[in-house]
Amino acid sequence: MIPKIDPTKTSAWKALTTHYSKMKEVQMKDLFRQDPDRFTKFSIQFGDLLFDYSKNRVTQETMDRFLQLADECQLQTAINAMFNGESINETEDRAVMHTALRSFSHDAIKVDGSDIMPGIREARQKMEAFCHKVHSGEWVGYSGRKIKNIVNIGIGGSDLGPVMVTEALRPYWVGDIRAFFVSNVDGTHIAETLKDLDPEETLFLIASKTFTTQETMTNAHTARDWFLSSAKESKHVALHFVALSTNEKGVVDFGIAPENMFVFWDWVGGRYSLWSSIGLSIALTIGYHNFEQLLKGAEEMDHHFKTTDFDGNIPVVMALLGIWYTNFFGSETEAILPYDQYMHRFAAYFQQGNMESNGKHTDRSGKDVSYSTGPVVWGEPGTNGQHAFYQLIHQGTHLIPCDFIAPAISHNPIGDHHPKLISNFFAQTEALMNGKNREQVAGELKGMDKPKMERLVPFKVFEGNRPTNSFLVKKITPFSLGSLIAMYEHKIFVQGIIWNIFSFDQWGVELGKQLANKVLPELENEDEINTHDASTNGLINAYKKWRS
Ligand code: F6P
Repeated sequence: MIPKIDPTKTSAWKALTTHYSKMKEVQMKDLFRQDPDRFTKFSIQFGDLLFDYSKNRVTQETMDRFLQLADECQLQTAINAMFNGESINETEDRAVMHTALRSFSHDAIKVDGSDIMPGIREARQKMEAFCHKVHSGEWVGYSGRKIKNIVNIGIGGSDLGPVMVTEALRPYWVGDIRAFFVSNVDGTHIAETLKDLDPEETLFLIASKTFTTQETMTNAHTARDWFLSSAKESKHVALHFVALSTNEKGVVDFGIAPENMFVFWDWVGGRYSLWSSIGLSIALTIGYHNFEQLLKGAEEMDHHFKTTDFDGNIPVVMALLGIWYTNFFGSETEAILPYDQYMHRFAAYFQQGNMESNGKHTDRSGKDVSYSTGPVVWGEPGTNGQHAFYQLIHQGTHLIPCDFIAPAISHNPIGDHHPKLISNFFAQTEALMNGKNREQVAGELKGMDKPKMERLVPFKVFEGNRPTNSFLVKKITPFSLGSLIAMYEHKIFVQGIIWNIFSFDQWGVELGKQLANKVLPELENEDEINTHDASTNGLINAYKKWRS
């Protein structure tokens, strides 16, 4: 059990409220002027990752008060409860053990009294052996051809992690293997994916924790029909379809033999499952050794998170800064901005990680919270975002804390591309902090006639003081990416603990699914519908008219 503490009732929260009234006008650039050691004090080095949070609207007092908040909310107790396999996902009565999936220690990790590590090791060995067979050509398709195309069919956590990681690690792709991902139930997704694939060289991974998800099962059946229209005999399915799931019955009912099933367990949340057999598409695409490096990078971050004092603990500090802006400055959104084209799905991945985990208004005692919880999370790679939405970050009316992430070493060191990219990474956080005042703008416009200049000045002023975190990584490798992902996972965990919500359920996705199941049969005939509200009836009836 994790404590159920209303953070706003703590003395630290009250002190932070008073502190905020002093801090809200403080300029970061003045804090830098006053303290030449600010960068050293407010940055943390973790292996090949440098986390600089000095460009935040915080002082040592802010951080101290937040550390007190973490203590009053019994964060360490909660961290221990998670790593020790307690049923911290109370509304689903489950432990939360994705950290065990990336443990290479020889120690036992127990859930409900039994050691889960032997099962994890066995599952990893099965993945490794399978990758070896596919890559060596020992595993061939029904016509004897080598497998070249891996098509992962899954959605949400059974898709976003594998897509994000395989994209981020493209430089590590193995030989002639190509990875494809089908998630949307929109037939366009599977139609466009299969269009150029040869069924004789294609392996489908049906990735679904529950093996009941409508989108995934629909796409899986379509994939099987497509495959059988070439292969003809259903016995060939065994060579081209494997399942990644916790639901053996569902897998067998679909027609996949248990030996072609890669298991995981109900204590792995969907959005935390890329470390499990859901990562098979990753292992097949970048090689099992690199998949293991990904796990090891995450394990290193787990160790840091579990054992480092909160003032030097990267996920804890990230989480506390996020709470500062969400609950005191009233920010409603955060951006994740990787300056690495390969990481183009990183923000989308953590959109689910954050918003499905912490998008909750019911506290752990079942009462409505009286404060904001998870922010809206979004982002795109730099520099593309600069030419799209950064205008609002620089001069809009919202305060949007941003995470900037960049590798020091590029996988594609062509000409001066990387220095140009990285110069933007450095420049943006500087610009967001320093802004540009009236005098500076006027100086730049010197020579322009005065009335025109005065008209123009207000539009060219940047108020600055906009907070950012910078994450400089030596290079994006399987190991460093594993650490980065685990770092954000733990940030989300810490915030959920302090906001006193349950981060590992997702009841909010159920209602829409239930109603879609009610609507679907109503679309089967041409009858006019009047079972819903007037708007929904009107839309359904208009659709029926148009489709016929
Ligand atoms: O609808 C949300 C959700 O339950 C996610 O949490 C999950 O990642 C996704 O659906 C897919 O679920 P499954 O792996 O069971 O198909």
